[in-house]
Amino acid sequence: MIAEADSGPTLTRRDLLPMCTLLLMADCETTANIITNGALALLRHPDQLAIARDRVTGGQLPNTAMNELLRYDSSIQITFRTVRRPTVIAGTTLAQGTPAALLIGSADHDPRVFVRPDRLDMDRAPNPHLSFGAGIHYCLGAPLARLEASLALGRLLARTRGIEPAHSAVRLKDITAAIRDVQALPVALTAA
Ligand code: HEM
Repeated sequence: MIAEADSGPTLTRRDLLPMCTLLLMADCETTANIITNGALALLRHPDQLAIARDRVTGGQLPNTAMNELLRYDSSIQITFRTVRRPTVIAGTTLAQGTPAALLIGSADHDPRVFVRPDRLDMDRAPNPHLSFGAGIHYCLGAPLARLEASLALGRLLARTRGIEPAHSAVRLKDITAAIRDVQALPVALTAA
């Protein structure tokens, strides 16, 4: 981006700062959060933790397992849009210009799309979750986030024989309704 800003008019230096801020915010919190949310989901489901441990290959969780962790408890729960033309959703007409909150977390637990949506299932397939959004604004960093999280969780499982909550004082961060994260997740590890 710096090279582009230096060499041509397409991207100005003024464009750079907001783009870097967006990348930093969109990248760091979300990816760190899916690692902790994923670890918490596995700790709360020892049967699925055992399956995930079995599925780790080359120190990495397979896509099927990673997709399920993303669906089950994503770090981004809501996104927002403005209605561009009158639109009817479930019998309600939304006028042009109406602000709309899209509940990703809710869509990812929709019983019309997912069988037993509140069950964590490491082998769930297909898994058409919306954790990375959809359409032209689909997450730019989805492949990177998936890789980072599947490596972090895969290594954690590969290098431990046991992992258990050290006590029940799990605390969720209180940032916004849109971002979901764990503030404290003390665990006891048994090395492999
Ligand atoms: C698990 C981690 C992540 C999750 C859950 C996530 C989720 C999302 C979601 C839901 C959107 C769509 C927002 C919308 O449509 O309003 C989005 C967009 C975006 N994400 Fe991510 N993201 C993650 C990681 C990353 C990473 C690692 C990067 C950068 C390296 C990144 C960069 C972006 C950018 C730039 C956009 C805006 C794309 C656009 O508007 O065209 N994200 N992300």
